[in-house]
Amino acid sequence: MASIFGKTSSGETVHCYRLYGKENAYVEFLDYGASIHAICVPDKNGVLCDVALGFSDISYYEKQDCYIGATVGRVCNRIENSTFTLNGKTYPLYANDGKNHLHGGKIGFDKKIWQAEEHDDSITFTYVSVDGEEGYPGTLTVSVTYTFDKNNKLTILHTATTNKDTLCALTNHCYFNLNGDSSTTILNHILTLYADSFTSADAESIPHGEIVPVTGTPMDFTTPTQIGKGIDSDYEPIRFGKGYDHNWILNNTDIVARAYSEKSGIQMDMTTTLPGVQFYSGNFLDGSLIGKNNVPVTNRSGFCLESQYFPNAINVDNFEKPLLKAGDVYKHQTTYQFSIKK
Ligand code: GAL
Repeated sequence: MASIFGKTSSGETVHCYRLYGKENAYVEFLDYGASIHAICVPDKNGVLCDVALGFSDISYYEKQDCYIGATVGRVCNRIENSTFTLNGKTYPLYANDGKNHLHGGKIGFDKKIWQAEEHDDSITFTYVSVDGEEGYPGTLTVSVTYTFDKNNKLTILHTATTNKDTLCALTNHCYFNLNGDSSTTILNHILTLYADSFTSADAESIPHGEIVPVTGTPMDFTTPTQIGKGIDSDYEPIRFGKGYDHNWILNNTDIVARAYSEKSGIQMDMTTTLPGVQFYSGNFLDGSLIGKNNVPVTNRSGFCLESQYFPNAINVDNFEKPLLKAGDVYKHQTTYQFSIKK
């Protein structure tokens, strides 16, 4: 059942939706940005705690540029020089990250109100992005279906169709804090990324095709490793990213990532059908936004695991392209399973 969350500055009503899992666990979603607003799951003492960053006030969702909780599109991550060529035509895009295009442009999918449709165990949000919106060709009809099952598994299914060949690369940008306490950092979390390599990027976080093995670097999370261990190292990619903010190339495993907080005992396992994951350690959060319970959203108080095609893929020969042809259906699924570590 929907409740009213607030009104945007232009007077549109934003709704909040809730799905229940087991042991009273629940996830809340907003039609603004088809966002994840809260993920409340039991900790090791059985007490429900919220492991997702978010805001109590819609005005913060409107003004934020951190994409907290949001569905990101039409193309997530960066496109170099804000331009790409498709079927022989070059498309200029809005440059909102230096000279580059980030997370869909000036007004991305994260700032749109989506149409909600509630089902028994799931909610579908739909948005129609018209031909030419943010510079992209084709009218794209995009849907996100969230399911939260009786095992506390959150499933995100993204689908899209277009009437002209276009790019489509959607992700969810939830920031997790598995301590269940957003006044703490995520540096104590133990992370495993089932990824033997990552895409090296320049100082503007743009990859150009170079693939680097993680072995012997602070990017190696192939065994459970504390996030804080290497986050301030002098390794050039870490300096460029101001911490972790890179695309890991996923090995072909069922679970692609596992994060754990000893404090709460909560563990999160991730699966995805996409080839990459952006592990971002909240390096640009600066305390200027006030999150839920009046807690400022401070540096590294949340981390993201964004399933994705590799950043800038459309401009890099050896990367799989996020192309959606007219008549085809875009489909990818990502899951986050919450449990208590045994
Ligand atoms: C991440 C991206 C970061 C930063 C962040 C939003 O997905 O990798 O570089 O832009 O979103 O603040």
